Amino acid sequence: MDFTLVTGGAGFIGSHLVEELLARGRRVVVIDDLSTGKRENLPQNQNLTFIEGSITDAELLKHLFSEYRFSTVFHLAAVASVHRSVEEPLYCHRVNFDGTLYLLEESKRVGVKKFVFASSAAVYGDLPQLPKREDMAVKPQTPYAVDKYASERYTVNSFNLYGFDATALRFFNVYGERQDPSSPYSGVISIFIDRIKRFKRGEETTIDIYGDGRQTRDFVYVKDVVGALLLAEEGKTAGEVYNVGTGKETSLLELLETLKEIVGELPPLRFLPPRPGDIKRSVADISKISSIGYYPKFPLKEGLKRLWEWSVKT
Ligand code: NAD
Ligand code: UD1
Repeated sequence: MDFTLVTGGAGFIGSHLVEELLARGRRVVVIDDLSTGKRENLPQNQNLTFIEGSITDAELLKHLFSEYRFSTVFHLAAVASVHRSVEEPLYCHRVNFDGTLYLLEESKRVGVKKFVFASSAAVYGDLPQLPKREDMAVKPQTPYAVDKYASERYTVNSFNLYGFDATALRFFNVYGERQDPSSPYSGVISIFIDRIKRFKRGEETTIDIYGDGRQTRDFVYVKDVVGALLLAEEGKTAGEVYNVGTGKETSLLELLETLKEIVGELPPLRFLPPRPGDIKRSVADISKISSIGYYPKFPLKEGLKRLWEWSVKT
């Protein structure tokens, strides 16, 4: 039987994907350096092999691809923080760009059947047209976005140049269980939920908003993203790029209103200067991915409710 490789499988999105693959009876190998992921995000399962190592280790990848016969590679390993890439561009480039190229080279060498790359809505940058469609101009304006865009082009060009079945998904802002709130670089919803929990425990805390809170994002629940990854694997998606979002635009202030309806009183809000490179508005047009069978099953309030219920139990 063939194996499926999930890079970054011990991370937030990766661990949900691994869970679903195992539930479908697949044999899964995860490579993760645990820089932001956690071993405990993954279950103990006889069909799961965990390799602690970096996707920038070309020798390790060569061994891995020679040892296992991978039919699919889901490439999710990355430094996922836009803000961190602004602070540490060289390190992030090594992981987010070089790592992708090593994986593409190995995948082509051994004849992997499908390569699915986790790109990002960040590639669109701050161009004014909304909602973002895949055929619109892009303006990657942070090291993170530049590396995602370059990796995405290398991925889809692999189909045009070598006939290699590769596709890229531009995730918008993903949230859900196991997203790690512990660093200032973490996803905004994970941080807000963590601050609310502390507040409810009686700790003194604030919700920090960079800018005026009117910036918008398309927040998509992690289980919908897993659905999109599996559709990309199954469908005729070679050489194509797809948005993965909900098509709904939500400002941080609206997000906080919805959270308030779920949890009651919120900690005090503290407004701070905007972050450099921060995008003002973002929302996906999801018609292209809808044409291969995707539809988001979790409206924001439903996803947040699930996340809150999980978070008070942990
Ligand atoms: P995450 O930080 O939880 O997951 C990334 C995983 O990659 C972690 O487990 C980390 O330990 C691992 N990793 C980092 N550097 C590595 C290296 N050199 N070698 C091996 N493993 C390494 O973040 P996430 O939110 O689950 O993001 C998953 C993917 O989706 C990333 O590629 C990210 O850029 C992309 N993405 C995420 C979002 C979002 O909103 N969360 C949106 C768009 C795109
Ligand atoms: C996020 C993802 C990135 C992905 C992109 C796609 C993370 C960590 N980042 O970047 O991987 O490619 O979406 O669109 O998952 N903010 C606050 N207060 C906080 C934290 C953040 O106001 O405590 C603000 C930020 O300044 C930003 C917004 O919330 O305006 C969203 O920030 P963040 O969750 O870091 O996401 P993106 O930068 O959009």
